[in-house]
Amino acid sequence: MKFFIDTANLAEIQEAYDLGVLDGVTTNPSLMAKEGITGQANILAHYKAICDIVDDNVSAEVIATDYETMVVEGRALAQIDSKIVVKIPMIKDGVKAIKTLSSEGIRTNCTLIFNAGQAILAAKAGASYISPFLGRLDDISMDGLELIDQIVTIFDNYDFETEILAASIRHNIHLIKCAEMGAHIATCPLKVILGLLKHPLTDKGLEIFLADYAKGNS
Ligand code: G3P
Repeated sequence: MKFFIDTANLAEIQEAYDLGVLDGVTTNPSLMAKEGITGQANILAHYKAICDIVDDNVSAEVIATDYETMVVEGRALAQIDSKIVVKIPMIKDGVKAIKTLSSEGIRTNCTLIFNAGQAILAAKAGASYISPFLGRLDDISMDGLELIDQIVTIFDNYDFETEILAASIRHNIHLIKCAEMGAHIATCPLKVILGLLKHPLTDKGLEIFLADYAKGNS
């Protein structure tokens, strides 16, 4: 399973990268705004700064919602760095843009996936990744994990090459269940990645080991 971090915060990206387990980064316009990154030139420069930290897979989202402009924007984003994956929303023109960009060898991540039909469409258009938002489904009393399971089954049935990038992951159980189900990638905030470290018996056990060592070596 690959781990992506879902943030535009450079310090958090560096911290996750330094841990040695980071395979990529996902951003979106909301995450860029949260970091105060505004204006096209600053946004493009920020994507480049992210690419300079990590080894590959930096999702950069288009703002346009019409086919022609999405394609132009996608090509420009892909020019920033070979690590860029162009993120395209699941709308009709987005599906067409994914088809065009993927036929040009530009990697795409189809975002805002909330049902299996959308996942199938994006995969058929040639998306490199699809991003089902499981936390946001949970927020409206639907089962986000059930959607991940369904998409894994469908993609396995047809050997789709598109990778399932489970997004909107809010906690450890989400991530672990996605791993059990066979999602290829989980993108989550730094706190979820670091949360995987935690178990009270680990802390307690280490405390005892160190105390026993100190007794014998003082
Ligand atoms: O990658 C998708 C993510 O940014 C959405 O997460 O927590 O805003 O639903 P959230």
